[in-house]
Amino acid sequence: MYDFSIEAGDKVELYRQLNEAAAALTEGEPDAIANMANVAALLWEAVPDLNWAGFYRAIGKELVLGPFQGRPACIRIPFGQGVCGAAAASMKPQCVDDVHAFPGHIACDVASASELVVPIVDAGRLIAVLDLDSPRRARFDKDDVAGCVELARLLAPRLRPVANPSAEG
Ligand code: SME
Repeated sequence: MYDFSIEAGDKVELYRQLNEAAAALTEGEPDAIANMANVAALLWEAVPDLNWAGFYRAIGKELVLGPFQGRPACIRIPFGQGVCGAAAASMKPQCVDDVHAFPGHIACDVASASELVVPIVDAGRLIAVLDLDSPRRARFDKDDVAGCVELARLLAPRLRPVANPSAEG
C-alpha cells in the first residue's frame, strides 16, 4: 500500500512533497504507463482545484491520450493545436489563465477554465506532456509552473516508452 499524505501550507512545500512522493513511486519501475498512472493519481489527490490531471504521449507528430484522472478526454491532439499542442510544438510550459481566450483551445471538459501544460523532454526529445486543468480561472501561477517543471524533469527518464517483449516474434 502506498500512503503519501501531502499536507502543505504553501505551494512550494506542496510541490516539494509531491515531487518526493512521485520520485519514490516511480523509482526502479521501467514501465512508462504504470508510472504515468500513479503520478496522475498522486496529482489528483494532492493538488487542489483540478478537474483533470494526466498525460499525453508524443507519438509521431501528435499527442495521444495517456493515463489521467478526470472526465474522458480527446484522444489525439496534433502538435500545434490547443494548449497541449502548443506546449508540444514549442517544448515550453503553457500557463493559461483563461482557456476560452486561448486561440484553438480544445475543450474536453466544459468545466475547465484554466490550464497548465508542461512538456516532458528526455535527452532533447519530447516524450509526453503533463496537463492540469482547473475549473477556477487563473488557478495556476509561477509556483505551479516551477513545481511541475521539476516534476517533468525527474519523470523524464522514467517515462521512456518500453518495448513489449510478449508482442515480439
Ligand atoms: N484543453 C486541452 C486538451 C486536453 S484536455 O484539457 C484534457 C488543450 O487545449 O490542449
